[in-house]
Amino acid sequence: MSFIEIRDLIKIYRPKESNLRVPALRGVELNIEQGEFLSIIGPSGSGKTTLLLMLAGMAEPSAGYLRVGDFRLDQYSETDRSIYRRYSVGTLWQIPNRNLIWEISALENVEIPLRLLGIPRERRIREAKDLLREVGMDHRMNHKPRQLSGGEVQRVGLACALAHKPILLLADEPTGELDSKTAGELLKYFKHLNESYGITAVMVTHDFDVAKATDRIIQIVDGRISGFSQTKNLKTISDMHQVYLDRYGSLQLPRHIIEKLEVQQKINIKEEDGKIILSQNDDFTPSKKMKNQK
Ligand SMILES: Nc1ncnc2c1ncn2[C@@H]1O[C@H](COP(=O)(O)OP(=O)(O)OP(=O)(O)O)[C@@H](O)[C@H]1O
Ligand SMILES: [Mg+2]
Repeated sequence: MSFIEIRDLIKIYRPKESNLRVPALRGVELNIEQGEFLSIIGPSGSGKTTLLLMLAGMAEPSAGYLRVGDFRLDQYSETDRSIYRRYSVGTLWQIPNRNLIWEISALENVEIPLRLLGIPRERRIREAKDLLREVGMDHRMNHKPRQLSGGEVQRVGLACALAHKPILLLADEPTGELDSKTAGELLKYFKHLNESYGITAVMVTHDFDVAKATDRIIQIVDGRISGFSQTKNLKTISDMHQVYLDRYGSLQLPRHIIEKLEVQQKINIKEEDGKIILSQNDDFTPSKKMKNQK
């Protein structure tokens, strides 16, 4: 059984100020394994943050099945979800203000989640220092965030996200404000913590190079998973050629293939020699073509 199981997950936002309904997730199907470091890429507005908010217990699914470990988030009330959030999830956001309190030191920031769990002062300080060491920030622990660089601030944010020993680490564009060298450094710490703590991590990013540093990339388009790929030996985004076939028989073709097709037109499907062949030209079937050539 996978650590995280998502089946036909649907999220429709209903903004209070209008009668509009905004579909953000349209039937997401995904399994995530214990200890996996997964990245989610996709165009703006495709539902990446929404999926992360669902996993964080910060938004209620409209329909579908969503389980993280033993937690059936699709069945939870707001109170259940707030308990899950406090004890089980660590989050790291793109905007540092959301991760850290600006007026207190790095050490005091990392102590906060431990304070909320009622952990005594001495142990709290010891554990917070250990974590700051893990992210290479022990020499700056008495500095306030404004005295740190962008990359350092995110590393302290990462320590905060892990302080209460969550079962799941979620990050939304954590490298979005960093240059590529600093982004690479943050990823190195991310990977180190994912490996040494065995924590399952899911990271949203716009950046294919950042995604390549994770174990597996999921591509999301229009609220559905359109493709996925292990990152080993992956060079370009066009190499991501594995797609999900859902239980209704639907699959989403990768964007670089869609761009070569005429959309809203029929597709021919043919099974030949154990292969499924899709074509868009009525006259085209490999066997017919070969016969004509003879
Ligand atoms: N609170 C909300 N109320 C109404 N619609 C929303 C809300 N949050 C997101 N949406 C809409 O849901 C869709 C998915 O949004 P989401 O923020 O998940 O996309 P995203 O992939 O994270 O985009 P980006 O890359 O720009 O961050 C978009 O059409 C967005 O406008
Ligand atoms: Mg987003």
